[in-house]
Amino acid sequence: MNSRGDADFTHSGVDHILHPTTSIVDIQKTGPRIVAQGNGVYVEDQHGNKQIDAIAGLWCVNVGYGRKELADVMASASEKLSYYHTFGSTSNIPQIALAEKLISITPKSLTKVFYGCSGSDANDTLVKIAWQYHQLRGKPNKVKIIAREQAYHGTSISAASLTGLPSFHRGFGLPLERILRVSCPHYWRFGKTDESEAEYCDRLIQEVADLIEKEGADNIAAFIAEPIMAAGGVIPPPKDYFSKLHPLLKQHDILLIADEVVCGYGRLGVQFGSELLGIEPDMMASAKGLTSGYFPLSAAFISENVWEVMTEGSRQYGSFAHGYTYSGHPVGCAVALANLDLIEKEKLVENANTTGEYLHQQLQQRFAHHPHVGEIRGHGLLAGIQLVEDKASKRLFDVPKKIPAQITKACMNAGIIVRPLPTIGTIALSPPLTFTKEHVDLVIDVIEQGLDQVLA
Ligand SMILES: Cc1ncc(COP(=O)(O)O)c(C=O)c1O
Repeated sequence: MNSRGDADFTHSGVDHILHPTTSIVDIQKTGPRIVAQGNGVYVEDQHGNKQIDAIAGLWCVNVGYGRKELADVMASASEKLSYYHTFGSTSNIPQIALAEKLISITPKSLTKVFYGCSGSDANDTLVKIAWQYHQLRGKPNKVKIIAREQAYHGTSISAASLTGLPSFHRGFGLPLERILRVSCPHYWRFGKTDESEAEYCDRLIQEVADLIEKEGADNIAAFIAEPIMAAGGVIPPPKDYFSKLHPLLKQHDILLIADEVVCGYGRLGVQFGSELLGIEPDMMASAKGLTSGYFPLSAAFISENVWEVMTEGSRQYGSFAHGYTYSGHPVGCAVALANLDLIEKEKLVENANTTGEYLHQQLQQRFAHHPHVGEIRGHGLLAGIQLVEDKASKRLFDVPKKIPAQITKACMNAGIIVRPLPTIGTIALSPPLTFTKEHVDLVIDVIEQGLDQVLA
């Protein structure tokens, strides 16, 4: 900062900062893109280049940038109670009010909430609760967690292990031994020739049944799934996947954890992806859209049944020995509450539905016949454009060619931020829920130009 309090960009920080999911070698050559401000659906870098952020930061800025309503709430909550912990039977007004609100909007099966700071820690918390739940019920061997190829659940030690993308395991000796893996539920890519979507779905469910048989239900605690996979390629499951999966899990006393870190709080045109896909999860992780990224806050939910067992646990163990310094942070909870109010007042869930429908219509209309677009996926304001080298054989571009990154770079230069998902050759869109049809039109024009530029 200089003496006027303005940012000084002479120094780029590359000598001091270890950036997340960034090549140290690359950033030392290119320097970082320094984002200076954000307003509505726009962000602006330090050189004054303005872009529409059609991925909402990291799929999280649901109400858009620079909302004064949230800044004001943050300031007043901070003045009133800047921090106090929630350990040892301590509470605060914002976390109580937020809990009431959350339990009124989350799937009916969920009745209690635990607060943390990130999507990774929400998943981590739920895994620990699943372990304790089974332990308390006299089933201490039920510790393995089933997760899916290509899933993204975060990067803490357990969340990275649950994540099914090898780049998050390499060099760390992960995943942990307790993780079991099943197929990514992507019909377009993994369905066999002449196999219907229903047959493919049955094959996936059979795979889970076979795994349970092989490992023994007595050794398996939970199954974790994003309703629609986000970072793994924006992949909705085949129809009936969850309605067939959940009874199988129940039959074997295996808990279903819905990871709603991206899908939650309106992204799919409904409050939660579970609602869209008819899932009544035993546990649910959420973060991101909970505060629209204005404050690091996560909410992990459990069912009444799990709660009752844990209550018994308190009789045995004393306190629930888990928690973070910032669990139930009064400022974060106040911001979350104000953010959920904005989502409600501005009917942003409804907008995600209607503008989302328009987005998908336009994507289909403009790109379904493109020779290098294999599939358009997603729901509401979450979309993936699958790139292919050869449309007929569905052959993907070789990853080292970095085609998605080249296209997203062209889009960025033209003022639109979309995200490359390199391993599956997809371009992802997940804009603020305030997006309009005009924004959609702009974004689609620019993506078309990007495709033409890179793939001509
Ligand atoms: C589905 C899902 N779960 C968990 C996470 C991890 O969240 P965080 O980065 O806040 O730890 C992410 C992050 O993108 C996510 O997409």
